[in-house]
Amino acid sequence: MSEKTIYPIPSIQGTVSVPGDKSISHRALILCSLAEGESRIHGLSEARDVESTKKCLRALGVDIKKRKELTTVTGRGKYGYTEPKSPLNAGNSGTTMRLLAGILAAQPFSSVLDGDASLRKRPMRRIIDPLEQMGAQIESEQHKAPLRIRGGALHAIDYNSSIASAQVKSCIILAGLYAQGITRVTERSPSRDHTERMLGLFGVKAQFSMAGAGVLGPASLHACELDIPGDISAAAFFLVAGCLLPDSFITLPNVGVNLTRTGILDALASMGARIQQSNHREVDNEPRADLIASTSSLNATTLSGSMIPAIIDELPILAVAATQAEGTTIVRDAEELRVKETDRLEGICSNLKKMGASVKETKDGFQITGPTPLKGATLDSYGDHRIAMSFAIAGLLADGETVIQNSECVDISFPHFFETLDSIRAD
Ligand code: S3P
Repeated sequence: MSEKTIYPIPSIQGTVSVPGDKSISHRALILCSLAEGESRIHGLSEARDVESTKKCLRALGVDIKKRKELTTVTGRGKYGYTEPKSPLNAGNSGTTMRLLAGILAAQPFSSVLDGDASLRKRPMRRIIDPLEQMGAQIESEQHKAPLRIRGGALHAIDYNSSIASAQVKSCIILAGLYAQGITRVTERSPSRDHTERMLGLFGVKAQFSMAGAGVLGPASLHACELDIPGDISAAAFFLVAGCLLPDSFITLPNVGVNLTRTGILDALASMGARIQQSNHREVDNEPRADLIASTSSLNATTLSGSMIPAIIDELPILAVAATQAEGTTIVRDAEELRVKETDRLEGICSNLKKMGASVKETKDGFQITGPTPLKGATLDSYGDHRIAMSFAIAGLLADGETVIQNSECVDISFPHFFETLDSIRAD
């Protein structure tokens, strides 16, 4: 297991190209694999989670080739997968497991979906219940992976999800591609809508709104060419670093700014952050823009309710920002963070305490009072990529050295994160 030492720096300046959006990359691979013919994907993420999706698809007989920036997927059609010889390994990736479950539930064969120790602890009832309502047969112990899926015919449902989760919504919508009629998912608060947007590019009739999504099945997909925008969840670390460090100015070109993902921009704006968007455009149904962040003085904010799904992956780095904001930042309704790659509420709060921040963990969030100078400390990443990267940014501001244990997990979403950080150091 690797350790990374972070030293404080005076400021950051320059341009950062963030990896292709991880959520969109998973969906691109999966939809291309179901299409008839050869599809081309530009700018696919090279994150370990996306590699997990690739490996599962290859084990299902899908041919995926990469040459420089271009990934070519030879689609096998909706029923063209071959029965896997051994369990499919989704690694650390909840998106891989939950999205593929929706498709495997409709295949004319049985399969097993498994993952690493973290993924085996995560809740799967949220997809098992709706898939069983559609007629799927899934065996598991206490609704946890490994999931044994006996594929078969599915029927359309109207599902009212009590959890705002794009993985749940996408799982059901993908299963709906195989069912007769309209499969609908409604949610309490809107979750990311990349699946619904992308289905249209493949010629599928999919609807989406802030209330949920629907798909008309059975549907077939035609091959297409896609370009993946930069990942706003990866950009978030540099946006916050640019705002918190003195004399800093950082440009992030071509970042996805889909409104179901831009909660980080709204949250930082409500704190007084100076972040500009330029060159706004839409490519392949996904809006994107260049983002520029510069040194800002921040005030506390309250983040709760329907805004939480749009910042769910950015709450660790927003917690770091809150330590430098004037007043008490309150996060509520974020209990979903307890069932991510690790219990992120606990991970955030215990690491911030070690750095001397004023923080109180609550059952569904935290309260952070600032501004507080941070001090260097030895911190556990808990094997969670977003915790590792958030505390690397905290280490840039801290007094003394910060050691991030088990730091290689950054590869899960952002290979070369530490090299990128080094490249914008302005001494
Ligand atoms: C994702 C959805 C979110 C997010 C995860 C990626 C997706 O999870 O936290 O990193 O790609 O659909 P939930 O759907 O569990 O909220």
